[in-house]
Amino acid sequence: VNYKTPKKRSDIIEILLNGLKRLEYRGYDSAGLAYDGEAEDGPVVVREVGTVACLEKAVNGELENKPPSVRERVFHSHVGIAHTRWATHGAPSIRNSHPHSSDPTHEFLVVHNGIITNYKPLKSMLLSKGYVFETETDTEVVAKLLKYLHDTIREDGEPPTFARLMMYVVHAIEGAFALLVKSRHYPNELVASKRGSPLVIGIKSETTLDKETFEVETSAPLLPDSDSPDFFGNGKVTNDTTSLDYRSPINESYSSAAAFFSSFSRPSNGLRFVLRKDEAQKTEFFFSSDPSAIVEHTNKVFYPEDNDVVHVKDGNMEVFCYSNEDPSIARNRLLSTIDLELEQIMKGRFEHFMLKEIYEQPESVQQTMRGRIHKLSNGQYEVQLGGIRDRFYDILRSNRMIFVACGTSYHACLACRQIVEELTELPVSVELASDFLDRRCPIFRSDVCIFVSQSGETAETLEALRYAKSHNALTVGVVNVVGSSIARMTDCGVHINAGCEIGVASTKVYTSQIVVLVMIALQLSSDSRSKLQRREEIFQALISLPGKIEKTLALDSQMKKIAQCLESRSSILLFGRGYQYATCLEAALKIKEVTYMHTEGIHAGELKHGPLALVDQDMPVILFVTRDSTAPKVQNALQQVVARGGFRSMIVVCTEEDEETKVLKDKVELIQVPETVDCLQNLLNIIPFQLLSYHLAVRRGHNVDQPRNLAKSVTVE
Ligand code: G6P
Repeated sequence: VNYKTPKKRSDIIEILLNGLKRLEYRGYDSAGLAYDGEAEDGPVVVREVGTVACLEKAVNGELENKPPSVRERVFHSHVGIAHTRWATHGAPSIRNSHPHSSDPTHEFLVVHNGIITNYKPLKSMLLSKGYVFETETDTEVVAKLLKYLHDTIREDGEPPTFARLMMYVVHAIEGAFALLVKSRHYPNELVASKRGSPLVIGIKSETTLDKETFEVETSAPLLPDSDSPDFFGNGKVTNDTTSLDYRSPINESYSSAAAFFSSFSRPSNGLRFVLRKDEAQKTEFFFSSDPSAIVEHTNKVFYPEDNDVVHVKDGNMEVFCYSNEDPSIARNRLLSTIDLELEQIMKGRFEHFMLKEIYEQPESVQQTMRGRIHKLSNGQYEVQLGGIRDRFYDILRSNRMIFVACGTSYHACLACRQIVEELTELPVSVELASDFLDRRCPIFRSDVCIFVSQSGETAETLEALRYAKSHNALTVGVVNVVGSSIARMTDCGVHINAGCEIGVASTKVYTSQIVVLVMIALQLSSDSRSKLQRREEIFQALISLPGKIEKTLALDSQMKKIAQCLESRSSILLFGRGYQYATCLEAALKIKEVTYMHTEGIHAGELKHGPLALVDQDMPVILFVTRDSTAPKVQNALQQVVARGGFRSMIVVCTEEDEETKVLKDKVELIQVPETVDCLQNLLNIIPFQLLSYHLAVRRGHNVDQPRNLAKSVTVE
């Protein structure tokens, strides 16, 4: 959204396309954008299946048909919206791509991230009103609903303001969403709202922006703080003083719904944030699902809360907030500064983000520890994680710790369970967020639930967090994205500080997650004298970790050769136990994600309980040999595979100092990783497999950073 900073149409389109390129890692099966055409034609919508590059071609084609005066027209204020899609409802197609439209003249155009769970009843209601739907998406319902409410509701004889219109919509829809709306009826205005899905607003102004940039006023909420209006006439809507049957306002006339809403206004619980007058008229606003699309324009951002409605008009931004916040506290959330450099989100000398991020690990792990590990005057080390300091004793006094996560983050939790148990002496369970929710796992106020997530937005993890909060457990976040929903909703937490990760397959965040979880265990055991020696051993290992990661990366050429050998195999099995069980799972996930090969990570103790049947001379088997307490049992597994003739296709991972295993070097492919303390060996051992999966994917001709069917941040269940 641009005001008073004259911009050519082509510049505006470029901003939109560049923003989409930065967000493309979140979804890339189709993309679209809308910008203002010539007044009489209304907005121009261009949508295309495939990557943002495909959309760019389509937009250029569209513009080439126009005379230069149209292409280069200068706007003093302009609203453009754009979207890159990862299909949930409806296959990837031009029709199903965003922006979605209320009608052929584009009275309302909507882009949406999330899922509208009650779209079916809303759609039936709109169908009964004669609306014709062109797509199979849930989002189209929002565009049509906006038009329907705009045409139906009259307030003082007029259609509602854009902000009020959005409030009606936000009241009516259920599910998770971040929505941006552009409309012919409200030229140069934009409304946005979010619930559950991420939304960040960048503010770029000619003057210095600070917390005083906004004026905060309490305002009467425009809609009631009660349940959603019942569009279908079956239910009741109540507030704390009144209960009334609320029969089908939509079916009769929506204006009665408006009357209903106003009769329930509660003057005490609304806040209105207004950009200070002198800032207006010279400001550009950038609305995005994450800061990577914003950082090249500004580092001043505002994070709306769930159900806030944000309205930009005449260079001013108003936020209507219903969260009963004290204005003085609310002011604190108004403006944040993001600490993200543009080069962090560029590929630099690397061909792919995944490879760049693998190679960044010596630095990212260092960054995770920076300022947190200190040497005391007595020569001992201590760790200080400011984000959990105040809840230190609450965590220690808890009855159990439950780690909840998805995907790679789940593997990081598994990788650290043993050391957390050992150092804290608390029972620790590790839960897949989806399964945790399916089981409605019993949670008590004496539990500590730790939510681990790169994005801080994964739908299931976020839902699990809400569930834990509703059971009054203490909630701790371990997230990489600052300002993300999990970071903001948890009682306390630790940022992973691995830097921005763009590759869909998580690499550097995994290793930094392990470091954070180990540091949490160290902090929680700081009072334990019996653990002194063990803690010192781990501290020493942490300090030498970046150098060892550097050495491990030197295995790259060997992994490239192994990739050549494995390229045409259809399956790969990985076995390990103890600390290396998580490594097997994570290595298998990496290979699956980017190479699409069938790969399984299996607990070595389970070998004889089934998987051994798969082992023959041709099956590639990767075994993680350890020098910790599980070593004799892993040697057993090795012998079992050898006995089945599995030598021919066997890859053994051991440490450089493991003389016993090294004798196998003529018989098997040996990958020798620098040695570190047992609980961090998994961090080094995963690195060759990040490299292997990368090289396999390149050899097999896949798009490494954008694997098919996957998205970096999965914000729908
Ligand atoms: C998606 C990503 C994975 C990631 C998982 C959990 O599936 O493709 O790379 O591990 O989500 O994401 P989170 O952001 O919560 O760590």
